[in-house]
Amino acid sequence: MRALAVQAFAHSERAARALADALGAPFDPIGLHVFPDEEILPAVPTPARTVIVYEPLDHPNSKLIRLLLTADAWRRSGVERLVLVAPYLCYLRQDAVFAPGQPLSRDVIGGLLGPRFDRIVTVDAHLHRTEDISAVFGGARVDNLSAAPALAEAIGGAGAAPLVLGPDRESAPWVQALAALLGGDSVVLSKTRIGDGMVEFDFGDLGRVEGRRVVIVDDVCSSGGTVLRLAARLSQAGAARIEFAVVHALFGEAVRRRMGEAGIARVVSTDSITHPTNAAPLAGLLAAALKDERAP
Ligand code: R5P
Repeated sequence: MRALAVQAFAHSERAARALADALGAPFDPIGLHVFPDEEILPAVPTPARTVIVYEPLDHPNSKLIRLLLTADAWRRSGVERLVLVAPYLCYLRQDAVFAPGQPLSRDVIGGLLGPRFDRIVTVDAHLHRTEDISAVFGGARVDNLSAAPALAEAIGGAGAAPLVLGPDRESAPWVQALAALLGGDSVVLSKTRIGDGMVEFDFGDLGRVEGRRVVIVDDVCSSGGTVLRLAARLSQAGAARIEFAVVHALFGEAVRRRMGEAGIARVVSTDSITHPTNAAPLAGLLAAALKDERAP
């Protein structure tokens, strides 16, 4: 049996091949049959002792079922070690029961994936109320990598040093990392979510913004409510140029257009999710973390 292979479904083949190349490992596509009633039947390729499966978990509902069935097939075909590379990990935003009647989705998903994978590798997971991500996945090893260097390189430090701005206190680590890498200063706001797409901020004193290049940084952008509200206020405060660096681009074309209308001159994202704004490739970061999976 081969020592190591990177495997993925067709929709992730490009990024998975880039990871396989960076690791110097073979890439195998995973087959998928869809029945007329929409049940699915994955078919795993020739096994390896260690299989790294690349599956970003945006649009998670169908992908999760696919992954659970495939994990069973891998184990049955003799795979000893299964490593899930999910640059975007889903359902971590429901990390508390925010209102009666809701589930704790984070723990449900952790309970599904944790027992099936020996290791999970992800990037800037949403850990607002999660102290120990490994505990969420039943004690499996979880590597939560930082995309700050890749984002900093993509957004660039040319010209005047930017003011790097984060929407909430949880954004502080990557705001500070980006400010240090770009040679700028930073400000971290405080945010209250009122509903989907509706947020309020405590803006405090935005005197520093006038005439500056401002780079807004966030881990996730979905409805766009957060960044659009920020951009409107920053324009009012006299920002000379507004840019947006986001790790996981979950938003659609309509939100992208509204960003332009709101005066955001440039949006860059990592390729954790395939998106037109992708400018920061993660293959090198992921491959460096996965070096220890290579056979000696
Ligand atoms: C929230 O806590 C996250 O860090 C992001 O700010 C949030 O998920 C962005 O979502 P939206 O684009 O829907 O405002």
